[in-house]
Amino acid sequence: MTRHLLTGTELGGDEVITLLDRADALKAAPMSSRALEGRSVALIFERPSTRTRLSFEAGIFELGGQPVVLRSDDLQLSRGESVGDTARILSRHMSAIGVRTGPDALLQELAREATVPVFNMLTAGHHPCQALADLMTLREAFGSLEGLKIAYVGDGNNVARSLALVGALVGVEVAVASPEGYTLTDAPGALLTTDPAEAVAGAHAVYADVWVSMGDEETADARRDALAPYRLDDALLDLAAPGAIALHCLPAHPGEEITAKLLYGSRQRIWDQAENRRHAQKAMLELLLA
Ligand code: CP
Ligand code: NVA
Repeated sequence: MTRHLLTGTELGGDEVITLLDRADALKAAPMSSRALEGRSVALIFERPSTRTRLSFEAGIFELGGQPVVLRSDDLQLSRGESVGDTARILSRHMSAIGVRTGPDALLQELAREATVPVFNMLTAGHHPCQALADLMTLREAFGSLEGLKIAYVGDGNNVARSLALVGALVGVEVAVASPEGYTLTDAPGALLTTDPAEAVAGAHAVYADVWVSMGDEETADARRDALAPYRLDDALLDLAAPGAIALHCLPAHPGEEITAKLLYGSRQRIWDQAENRRHAQKAMLELLLA
């Protein structure tokens, strides 16, 4: 059966832990696996990316495979070829297909028609590859995920949802503080509040993401107003558990959702988190293609 990673909930909790163990091993020895030897992996970007593109391209190369990056305009999809036919053709040449796009429905349709694994490189609804790297980073910082709590403060978006859904698989408690109108939906198990202090109480990590996600540009001003009280700064981090770390999926807007002091200071694991994308995704590709 073809395995996909569209939301992360396709994985079992034990599988996530095994994947994180594998990611740690690949971080220690990046060139130790030839799992993609002689295989090509399509990476379709309908939206911009820095980390996701770089980490997948470098990671696939390290696994002995060839990444094939396709921007929207590169495919006949942009001239009306159907998603299904695109999936059928990609499946004849590629060993797996990664997609970054807006609509989750497009990714789902592609996965239905593809006969090779399809993985989500960010949609409006989900960012599971990010969540895997986030959990890897937490485990590095605290040794184990047991008993950990993460507080996400800001827009209830794709990153928040994946953190809540994938965190739940491994028993990590996720609290999300957002202003009214920006509340996280479709993430059963997450603790939702409008109060950042309540979310952050007892948390081992406090997580920020941009206030204006890709596709939300038209409502940017309203978002900046509503989200201003949800900035991640030292004072908010002080309300978390002692030794709590700051996380951010990046790209950052220092002075908006996070202060420059935290972003570049000693209380964060943000840059390790960005590196861990590559290691976690290599483990994910090994699992999907096993
Ligand atoms: N965090 C993340 O996905 O970054 P990019 O948009 O740069 O890929
Ligand atoms: N929530 C952000 C994440 C960027 C990596 C977005 O969707 O633009």
